[in-house]
Amino acid sequence: MFTRKNKLTLALFMTILFGSASMSISVFAASDANMTLGDIKAGNKLHQKYCMKCHNNSVYTRKLKKVHSYEGLVGRVKACAQQTGISFSRKQLQDVTAFLNHHYYEFQN
Ligand code: HEC
Repeated sequence: MFTRKNKLTLALFMTILFGSASMSISVFAASDANMTLGDIKAGNKLHQKYCMKCHNNSVYTRKLKKVHSYEGLVGRVKACAQQTGISFSRKQLQDVTAFLNHHYYEFQN
C-alpha cells in the first residue's frame, strides 16, 4: 500500500505526466476532497504575494486554459506552488485552490 504522502506525490507526478487530470481523478478524490474547505480570503492574499511572478490572472481565463477539472486544479496549484520558492503548507494549498476555484474555474466538487 502507498502511504498518504506517497499517494500525493504519485498523484502530482501523474498530473504532470498526463497534463490533464483524467488519470489522477481517483487518486485525488479520496485524499483531497477537503480542498474545498480552503479559506478564499487567505488564498487571495497568498496568491497575490506568491503566484503573480510568472503569470497574471489571465492564465486562468485564457481560451486554451489547461486546467479542466477540480482535480487538475489541485495538481496544478501544487506544481506551481513548488516553483514559487517557498514551501506551501497543506492549508495554504487548500486556500489558494479554493480562491482560484471560487473566482475563476468554478468547478463543482
Ligand atoms: C515559476 C513561475 C510560476 C510561478 C511562481 C507560478 N506559476 Fe502557475 N504557471 C506557470 C506557467 C509557466 C504556467 C503555464 C503552463 C502552461 O501553459 O502549460 C502556469 C499555469 C498555471 C495554472 C494553469 C492555468 C490554466 O491553463 O488553466 C494555474 C492554475 C497556476 N499556474 C496556478 C499558480 C498558482 C496558484 C501559483 C502560486 C502558488 C503559481 N501558479 C505560481 C508558472 C508559474
